[in-house]
Amino acid sequence: MIPDRPDPAWLTGPGDAAVDDVIRVRGGTQMTGTVHVVGAKNSALKLMAAALLAPGRSVITNVPRITDIAIMGEVLRRLGCGVRFDADHPVDPMVAYGGVPRSRSVTIDVPETPGIDADCDLVRRLRASICVLGPLLARRGSVRVAHPGGDAIGSRGLDMHISGLTRMGAEISGERGCVVATAPHGLRGTEIVLDFPSVGATENLVMAAVLAQGTTVIDNAAREPEIVDICTMLSQMGALIDGAGTSTLTVVGVPGLHPVRHATVGDRIVAGTWAFGAAMTRGDVTVTGASPAFLDIALDKLVAAGALVETRRDAFRIRMEDRPRAVDVVTLPYPGFATDLLPMAIGLAAVSDGASLITENIFDGRFMFANEMMRLGADIQTDGHHAVVRGRQRLSGALVRATDIRAGAGLLIAGLCTDGVTEVSQVHHVDRGYPDFVADLRALGVEVQRGGAADEGISLGR
Ligand code: EPU
Repeated sequence: MIPDRPDPAWLTGPGDAAVDDVIRVRGGTQMTGTVHVVGAKNSALKLMAAALLAPGRSVITNVPRITDIAIMGEVLRRLGCGVRFDADHPVDPMVAYGGVPRSRSVTIDVPETPGIDADCDLVRRLRASICVLGPLLARRGSVRVAHPGGDAIGSRGLDMHISGLTRMGAEISGERGCVVATAPHGLRGTEIVLDFPSVGATENLVMAAVLAQGTTVIDNAAREPEIVDICTMLSQMGALIDGAGTSTLTVVGVPGLHPVRHATVGDRIVAGTWAFGAAMTRGDVTVTGASPAFLDIALDKLVAAGALVETRRDAFRIRMEDRPRAVDVVTLPYPGFATDLLPMAIGLAAVSDGASLITENIFDGRFMFANEMMRLGADIQTDGHHAVVRGRQRLSGALVRATDIRAGAGLLIAGLCTDGVTEVSQVHHVDRGYPDFVADLRALGVEVQRGGAADEGISLGR
């Protein structure tokens, strides 16, 4: 029996409107249709921070309409920037459902001397806000940023950000939950070898290096498409960067940059979410707006599971006719299988024919959501950074809780493979990364309801 309302104890997210914090889906639907993906959250957030590097007006387009972007806009406002969100023009009907555009352009007016104090609750709520550290240190020679802490997928240190900036001449200390950095003699180019190709550290160091004196070489740099995107924007602003998309980035510092207009790269993780959804529900989905080249390994896994995949430059179609076959998955930095698709890989394994070994190498807490997946009847055994998942014909609808952005999306899609109704609470996490998950699900034929009572044909309690 599914109760009419979720247990209030689950609804503890910051500022949640509890009732609206729930999405219900009915299982048994095959996803079919077309879904359009807008710009990547993990790129747009950093592009907004990169705008700080040049005084004047920068415009970033194809920015997803999600909570994390709104928070980053507020962080920049508190640093003295003018920040305005507008509908992307012309509004593409593929991008807007019910007249609500899912991507926007953000106009950022950066003052000659932006603020240097980013110590506020907003910063703590958004891990990505640490990426204002590099640009502000480069522009102002001094900055104070609240330590963003960890979140539900692991501890997430900052040691590589700090040691890289220190090598460039910064003096960094921790003070009352903040990172305080100064560069009394300016930042200077140097050689930095990262212990691990950290996305955030690579971005912070590149943004610091573009205005440093001399040449910075970053070895073992991250190679994600979002890194290429930020390097492209910085180059358009006048930065001298070589090697974007490879493990060695060479940055020759310049005295100043100019503002720019730049379109955000399509979101490969959102695109991958729909690809797994199509495969898990034995559907037929066309995804537009993101390059399948950025999902090479994920799509290969789906082909190994039995999917038929057709690719074009910025679109792909994925069909699954039979029950998926079990496949093993190992997450790795790009171009490896993305950790952000791990919940979807577990969902696929949970309904596949056979047993899958899933290995997570990026975040120590990524399997925390496995308990929720098990409430849906998934057979999962975790041990450290491995999970063995034995596939079942069908899962069963239940009340579950989103523990982070990707876990929430993975649970909703797994809910489509159940024999009943699945109610996912704390979906404010999903809102942080997916512009309008409910509208997209509906466009793909899913019976879905956000918040409120069971008034749209999704009847609870059965
Ligand atoms: N790490 C350290 N020290 C550092 C930096 C990172 O120990 O100085 C560790 C982290 O604790 C983590 C691992 O290295 O275990 C990877 O961290 P990385 O810096 O690569 O990731 P991030 O920049 O914190 C971004 C995305 C994540 C995505 C990862 C990996 C943003 C805002 N976030 O995080 O996205 O999973 O890269 O691809 O860009 C999401 O969108 O849901 C999400 C979590």
